[in-house]
Amino acid sequence: MSSEIVNFTSEYNTYLLKSMNLETERIILRSWKESDAEALFEYAKDERVGPVAGWRVHKSVEESLEIIRTVFAQKGVFAVTLKGKDKAIGCIGVVCGNKSNFPIGEDEGEISYWIGVPFWGQGLIPEAMRRLIRYAFEDLHLKNLWCGYFDGNEKSKRAQEKCGFRYHHTCEKTYYPLTDDYRI
Ligand SMILES: CC(C)(COP(=O)(O)OP(=O)(O)OC[C@H]1O[C@@H](n2cnc3c(N)ncnc32)[C@H](O)[C@@H]1OP(=O)(O)O)[C@@H](O)C(=O)NCCC(=O)NCCS
Repeated sequence: MSSEIVNFTSEYNTYLLKSMNLETERIILRSWKESDAEALFEYAKDERVGPVAGWRVHKSVEESLEIIRTVFAQKGVFAVTLKGKDKAIGCIGVVCGNKSNFPIGEDEGEISYWIGVPFWGQGLIPEAMRRLIRYAFEDLHLKNLWCGYFDGNEKSKRAQEKCGFRYHHTCEKTYYPLTDDYRI
């Protein structure tokens, strides 16, 4: 009987964490919805966004919908929206253990993010990231957080520095199937 209760509680906690909105001064981070597909396509079809982050530009609203149903449908992944407007303008998330691109433990997380070009340069991702960092430590109880960028992505490096990330190591040149190239 008691194990049934524990089981229910942990499922309920997972549900709460999945559906939890995170708020900052200008932003609400919420779960992705299928109805975000058009907004996602609007920003993800821009070749200045995906390739520098390691994923291909989206070619259709259907492709964006598929990404929402698969990649974005996991705990810790949020749509970035401006307060008072529910439109998804970017994505930020923290994934743990073997879901990460890095060889990290289950009690460690990797943060990744992007925001649509019209919103660059307003400090929105650093603002979202600071909130996500709190969520990762306080709600997910992670011990370490990691964040990477591909060589030359100075904008991302800068966003990470603003949130307190410090250089740890450089990975070896690796083949990335999503973008079909070798990168550091
Ligand atoms: C990296 C990224 C998330 C930064 O988000 P942001 O909300 O614009 O972050 P900031 O406003 O703090 O800008 C960060 C830096 O980008 C640079 N930058 C911002 N807007 C810029 C623009 N329009 N043109 C050129 N550089 C710009 C500035 O150097 C800025 O640092 P500063 O504020 O010290 O001058 C965003 O540029 C992006 O989505 N890029 C494409 C995807 C990507 O690289 N994702 C990260 C993968 S690791």
